[in-house]
Amino acid sequence: MTRSEARREIERLTLLVHYHNGLYHQKGQPEISDYDFDQLLAQLIRLEEQFPEYRLPGSPTQTVGEQPSKNFATVYHRYPMLSLSNTYSEAAIHQFVQRTQKLLHGAPVEFFCELKFDGVAISLLYIGGALQRVVTRGDGTKGDDITQNAQTIASIPKHIQASGVPQEFEVRGEAFMPRSQFEAFNKARIAHGEEPLANPRNTAAGTLKMLDPRLVAQRLLDFYPYALKSVALKTHEAGIHLLEDWGFNVAPTYKKCTTIEEVITYINYWEANRSKLPVDIDGIVIKINDLDQQEQLGYTAKSPRGAIAYKYKPENLTTTLEEVGYQVGRTGAVTPIAHLKPILLAGTTVKRASLYNANEIKRLDLHLGDIVRVEKGGDIIPKVTAVVSKQRKPGSTPITFITHCPACNTPLVHQEEEAVYYCPNEKACPPQLIGRLKHFVHRKAMDIDAIGSKTAALLFEKGLVRTPADLYALRYEDIYPLAGFKALSTNNLLQGIARSTQMPFEKVLFALGIRHVGETVAKKLAQHFQHIDALLQATPEAIVAVPDIGEKIAQSVQAYFQDAAHLKLIAALSAAGLQFSIAPSPSSAAHQPLAGKTLVISGTFQDLGREALKARIQQQGGKLLTAVSKNVDYLVAGHQAGPAKLAAAQALSIPVLSETEIMRMMDVG
Ligand code: IVH
Repeated sequence: MTRSEARREIERLTLLVHYHNGLYHQKGQPEISDYDFDQLLAQLIRLEEQFPEYRLPGSPTQTVGEQPSKNFATVYHRYPMLSLSNTYSEAAIHQFVQRTQKLLHGAPVEFFCELKFDGVAISLLYIGGALQRVVTRGDGTKGDDITQNAQTIASIPKHIQASGVPQEFEVRGEAFMPRSQFEAFNKARIAHGEEPLANPRNTAAGTLKMLDPRLVAQRLLDFYPYALKSVALKTHEAGIHLLEDWGFNVAPTYKKCTTIEEVITYINYWEANRSKLPVDIDGIVIKINDLDQQEQLGYTAKSPRGAIAYKYKPENLTTTLEEVGYQVGRTGAVTPIAHLKPILLAGTTVKRASLYNANEIKRLDLHLGDIVRVEKGGDIIPKVTAVVSKQRKPGSTPITFITHCPACNTPLVHQEEEAVYYCPNEKACPPQLIGRLKHFVHRKAMDIDAIGSKTAALLFEKGLVRTPADLYALRYEDIYPLAGFKALSTNNLLQGIARSTQMPFEKVLFALGIRHVGETVAKKLAQHFQHIDALLQATPEAIVAVPDIGEKIAQSVQAYFQDAAHLKLIAALSAAGLQFSIAPSPSSAAHQPLAGKTLVISGTFQDLGREALKARIQQQGGKLLTAVSKNVDYLVAGHQAGPAKLAAAQALSIPVLSETEIMRMMDVG
C-alpha cells in the first residue's frame, strides 16, 4: 500500500468507525455486528500503527464509548472507565502472555479469567456503606448519573452490612437484562403489536436511559460486578472475594489460571457452554491477577495492558433452506427472508434469517434445499452467511428474485446501481400502506401508543384507515366493535389520536415517512423552515443549504411534495389540527417562558401525553433532568408521580406543578 493509499484508507476507516459508533451508542441501532465492527477497528489500529503520522485527531482508536446525554446530570469518573483491547484469535492470546512476561521480566504471572458479560458498564459509588451514585461509562471520562434507575436493580446492594467496609469505595460491573427476561419482554411487545427489540444488551442500555425509574423497575435488570476500586488490594481476586463477602452478586464463573493452557481451556469451555448461561456473553476477559503487576504494565490511550478480551465469533450453525419468502416494507423495498428448518442457536429457536437483497442471493448462489450457515450476531434476525455444501440434489431449483410484488402483484422496479427492488405501487400496496400507518403512529413519530402494529393492520384490513389522515375521522362506533376492544380501550385509542394533534411540527414531518427524512433530518428541516409552506416551496438548493442536509435528501423531499396525493394528505392532516409550523417563535427568551429553567417530569400525563409534554417543555427553553436535586426549578408531577421524587422536591422546597399548571406557564393551557 502506498503512503497516499494508506492515508485515504485511514480517513475512510475513521469515518466509518465513527459512523458505526454513533449508531451503536447514540441511536442504539447498530447496522453491523460487533464482529464486523471489531474487524474495522482492528484494520484501523493496524494502519495507524504502520502510519502513525496519518492518525486523525479524535480517532476512535483513542477514545471509548458515547457522549453523555442531555437528559441526565453529567458526572466525572474518579478513575477513567477504560475499555479492553480485544482479539478473536488464540495466537493473540499467546502474544499477550509473551508480551506480559517480557514486560514483567519473567516474573511469575497468574491470570484471572472472567466472562465478558454483554451489557452496560456502570460504576457504583458507596459512601459509609450506602449506595450513593451510579454512573454510566459514557466517554470514559464522564458519564450519565443514572442513580435512580440503577436503584431499581434488585441485585445491587443499597446498604452493605458487613464489618470492615471502607468508608468510600467504587464497584464497577455490568448491568444487563437476563436472557429469559428479554424473551418475556419481547413476547409481551409482540403481543401488544410492538416491534421486538434487537438484543438484551441494547434493551438494557435503552432501559438505563429511560426517564421514569418505575418503568426501569419493571424491566428487571440485573448486575454482575467485576472490579473493586479505591480499596488497597494485592490481587484482583481479593477484590472479587470482598465483593462476594459484602453481598454482591458476583458471577460464579470466574477462574484463576496459572498457565496459558488453562486459559485456553476456559475460553473453549465457555464458548461451547455459553448458551446455557442466563446472560449473553460476547467473550471472556483475561486479567493479570497481581495488581502491582497490572500497574507496572500500564495503559494505552484507552485500555490497560494488564488485561485483554478474547471475543467469540458470532454463534453459527447449519440448517436447510426450505423456502425464500419476501417482505414489503413501508417504502416498498422488498426484502428476501430465508425460511429454515428450525434450529436452536444462541439460546433461541431460529426459523428465519435475513437475506438482505437480490445481490446477496446471487452471491450465495442459493438453491432450494441448500444446507446454509446461519449466524446470530447482534441483530434479532439472524443472517445466512454461506452455502455450506454445494453437493446439492441434482435438479434443485436455483433461487431467483421475484419479479412481481408478493402483496399486490405489481412488477418490481430497481435502479441500476441499487441492489434493492421496490414495489412502485405506493398508493395501493397493502403492506406499504400499513407500514406507513405504523410509522406514523410510532413512539418516535406521533406517539399514538394505543395503536401498535397489530391495531394498525386491523384498522387497515377493516377498511377504516387507508392513510394517516383517516385516523382523525375515526369514531367510537368504528372502534368499539373491533376484536379486542372494550369501552376503555376504545376511549384510550381515540384520546391518543386526539392528543397527537399537539405533537410538534418536527415529529409530524418525521411521521410523514418521506424517504431519507429520519428523526434528525426532520428536526433540522422543521427548525430551518419553521412552516410547511416554506418547505413546500423550497428549491433543492434551499434545502441543501440547511446544515448537514445533502442532495439525496433534498431530492427526496422535493419529489415527495410534487405528488398530489401527498399534498392532499398534508391538507387533510392540517385540517385535523396537526402542527405544521413551529409553535410561537422559539428565538427570543420572551417567548420561551421556560428558558434557563430546569425541570423534572414524573408520572403520566393525560392531556398532552408524556412525550409531547417533554418536547413542548424543551421547545419552550426548559431543560429536562431525571433526578430531583437542588439544581432543579420545578417538578412536573402527573398521574402516579414517583413518591421519591415528590418527597425530594418537598425536602428541597422545589415547586411541584400539575399538568395544567405547566401548560398554563407555557401559555398553551
Ligand atoms: S474489566 C478497563 N471484566 O467489557 C476495562 N469488563 O471493553 C476493565 N465487560 O464495557 C473492564 N464483562 O463493561 C471487565 N468481566 C469483565 C467484563 C467486562 C464485561 C465489559 C465492560 C466494558 C467492556 C470492556
